[in-house]
Amino acid sequence: MTVKKIAVIGGGTMGSGIALTAAVHGIDAVVVDINEDQLARAKDYHAKQLARSVSKERMTQVGADSAAAKLSYVTAMADAADANWVVEAATENIDIKKSIFVQMYETFGKSVVLATNTSSISITELASVIPDAADRVIGMHFFNPVPVMKLVEVIKGEETSSETTASTLKLSEKMGKIPVPANDRAGFVSNRVLMPMINEAFHAWADGVAEPEDIDSIMKLGCAFPMGPLRLADYIGLDVCKDIMMVMYNGLDENPKYLPSAKLVKLVDQGYLGDKSGRGVYNYDKG
Ligand code: 3HC
Repeated sequence: MTVKKIAVIGGGTMGSGIALTAAVHGIDAVVVDINEDQLARAKDYHAKQLARSVSKERMTQVGADSAAAKLSYVTAMADAADANWVVEAATENIDIKKSIFVQMYETFGKSVVLATNTSSISITELASVIPDAADRVIGMHFFNPVPVMKLVEVIKGEETSSETTASTLKLSEKMGKIPVPANDRAGFVSNRVLMPMINEAFHAWADGVAEPEDIDSIMKLGCAFPMGPLRLADYIGLDVCKDIMMVMYNGLDENPKYLPSAKLVKLVDQGYLGDKSGRGVYNYDKG
């Protein structure tokens, strides 16, 4: 099957990154979001990134114009119904995702793959709300920033067909990514390994082992991470980190090692969510 047009459900950081990556690789992409402000931000991000690619001579102006022409933005899912591939990239909340999957099932054609960019939620459980189409549901987990990060973690649910998996691998490669499989356990591989490390950095901070800047410098300079774990937590979103820890706690036998640290929970409760709110571990208002 040739993917001609992708519908990306959710115009946030991940959704807008997925749409841009598709368009740059020659695939039409429609961003669906009920929030018009979110769509405006996605459009602005796309314009800025394409202009940057031209100024960096990674792309010609003609190429950037062609990618921009492949992008569209709609508030109603019905207006994206001609897409022949869907990636859901909404909030990491199982009830929201389940209701979106029912809507996707009702909106798109009977052979369209219904992928999810979930970072931790069970694919089998999401597919359970649309049993007739469970063979077409698959995890297609991109990484932030999507245009830069090479990986797509591909997760099959219990009912996912081999055709769906093969198409997902093919599409990932067409989008310039390297697909790597993981099994359907909470957090998959990426967040099963990454999030406890980030969470431990919060514990280390709370225990007075070092201040955030020093924790991050130690992990950057000593372990060659591009960002330290606390800076990365701000970049991902502290609420997202907390939610992923809770999905793993609930999905992995309530093992207390997956409970989010009190320091992380407190910052989220205070509304300090990281880059997106201007303050998280670090205060970005002050630069
Ligand atoms: N969109 C597109 N391109 C972007 C971008 C974005 N949002 N952010 C950065 N870039 C590009 C820049 O344009 C730049 O390329 P250019 O100079 O050639 O144009 C290049 O990336 C490097 O950016 P910068 O020079 O601004 O900054 P850095 O060298 O510090 O790199 C970074 C920024 C790529 C974000 C780097 O710090 C990094 O790799 N950080 C770690 C990111 C990471 O771990 N991501 C995974 C998060 S986990 C996840 O997503 C899973 C989820 O489930 C939680």
